[in-house]
Amino acid sequence: MGRPRLPLCLALCVVAAALAHTLAAEHAPTVHTLIATECTRYFTWQVGRVAAAVDSGAESKRCMPRSVLQSPNTFCSLSGARRQTIGMVYSFRKVKQPGRMTRLMSCTRETWEKLPEADRAYVDEVPTHWAPSYSHHPRTGDWYTGINKPVAMADWLAKTDVQEDYVLLIDADMIMRLPVLPHELGAAPGTAVSGFFGYMIGVNNELALRHVPEVQPRQDDVAGPPGRRGDQVGGFTMMHWEDLRRVAPWWIKYSEDVRADKLAWNQTGDVYAVEGESVWIAEMYGYSFGCSKAGVWHITDPTFQLYPGYEVSREHFESPPKVLHYGILWNVTSALPGAEPIFQFDKHWFEEFDALACPPWDINKQGLFSHPPRLSDFNTSGYQLFRDLMAIQPVITLNEAFCERHRRRCPPSEQLQAECARAEALARAGDDSTAETKQQHTEL
Ligand SMILES: *[C@@H]1O[C@H](CO)[C@@H](O)[C@H](O)[C@H]1NC(C)=O
Ligand SMILES: *[C@@H]1O[C@H](CO)[C@@H](O)[C@H](O)[C@H]1NC(C)=O
Ligand SMILES: *[C@@H]1O[C@H](CO)[C@@H](O)[C@H](O)[C@H]1NC(C)=O
Repeated sequence: MGRPRLPLCLALCVVAAALAHTLAAEHAPTVHTLIATECTRYFTWQVGRVAAAVDSGAESKRCMPRSVLQSPNTFCSLSGARRQTIGMVYSFRKVKQPGRMTRLMSCTRETWEKLPEADRAYVDEVPTHWAPSYSHHPRTGDWYTGINKPVAMADWLAKTDVQEDYVLLIDADMIMRLPVLPHELGAAPGTAVSGFFGYMIGVNNELALRHVPEVQPRQDDVAGPPGRRGDQVGGFTMMHWEDLRRVAPWWIKYSEDVRADKLAWNQTGDVYAVEGESVWIAEMYGYSFGCSKAGVWHITDPTFQLYPGYEVSREHFESPPKVLHYGILWNVTSALPGAEPIFQFDKHWFEEFDALACPPWDINKQGLFSHPPRLSDFNTSGYQLFRDLMAIQPVITLNEAFCERHRRRCPPSEQLQAECARAEALARAGDDSTAETKQQHTEL
């Protein structure tokens, strides 16, 4: 009597497994993470002077926050000249972000061949899609690095059989703190998730009317005011890949169109815009109009990304930042406003920094950044302590990432052992104290 049981069980098991698979697929859509980079010395912070317009002064100025309390209001999402990948890649692995990752690299062959050998070898460590560089637009002659993001995206989509349901597109000067999951963020076909950029007034004035008059104005206020013809979004995007395929060509087209639009300069919300100059944030409008043209609208996630040093509030405890965007200068001070900073960081100070060097190091010039303060060095508490811990986290993670490489690639030495042990201890303490601060707050 025992014999029929086995085939029966097998059949049931197969059915159960298939069912489980279907359910799992339904409940947990998969995601492919894309990191947009330029072909500069991405992990050394060395500047490739891609376009004359992108000098560091202009970039820093554009990256200054409008107001510390309006956190998404910076122009940094477009500062494409310097990109840095080691930290992002390391944190992607550390948080166990599900799915594959690809680095999009916009690069001419000539620039690529001039990169140092060590930089080129890094391609072996991260799946890389090499896309043409449009920093100097081959058709229009426009010098604009911002266009590379949609061009690389379209190129990748054209040459890739995307296996995952969703695509997450983020910048390289970010650190992942937590896994980023499409169903948690609320992404769905036709509904993408992005960051809110309130200054993008051009989605609701003559700019939108000139470029996308055919788009039916939105009646809701989910990602901008009613009447808009595009969402006020940017910074990162989580989108269904089929939507992205439709959006990508429009994203390029409207980026080009807004660049060429002589009337646009005072209609974009960019307070640094100058009459007679092409719009710096054209690519953001390219994205917004490209999406609305393709019928993709957004929900925004206010706490998804945090700029280090920005104020946090209850919502950051309830829904902690998943990504830290270290594009700008920040100061970690103590509880008193006006007190001397106990830690400062600005990636623009580190154009000569060499993250690949083996010891001996002159810390902060090679190998590692200066170690951030320890928890016991802070006298803040509550939200302010959480803000400060978030603010030092990118540097902690970058140092941890550098050490992971140094330990693999450098001969053992006293300095390596001492500095990396300290960096790793800070990383462990950082993980613990962030959790603890949150825990204490939740118990209050
Ligand atoms: C924008 O600038 C033009 C002149 O170039 C001016 O005529 C127009 O009134 C300005 N628009 C706004 C909204 O300031
Ligand atoms: C940071 O502190 C320096 C002084 O050390 C100050 O000049 C700068 O404006 C501060 N920046 C920010 C963003 O708070
Ligand atoms: C925190 O430390 C600073 C000195 O760094 C001091 O001026 C301030 O009074 C301290 N604040 C509190 C709340 O203890």
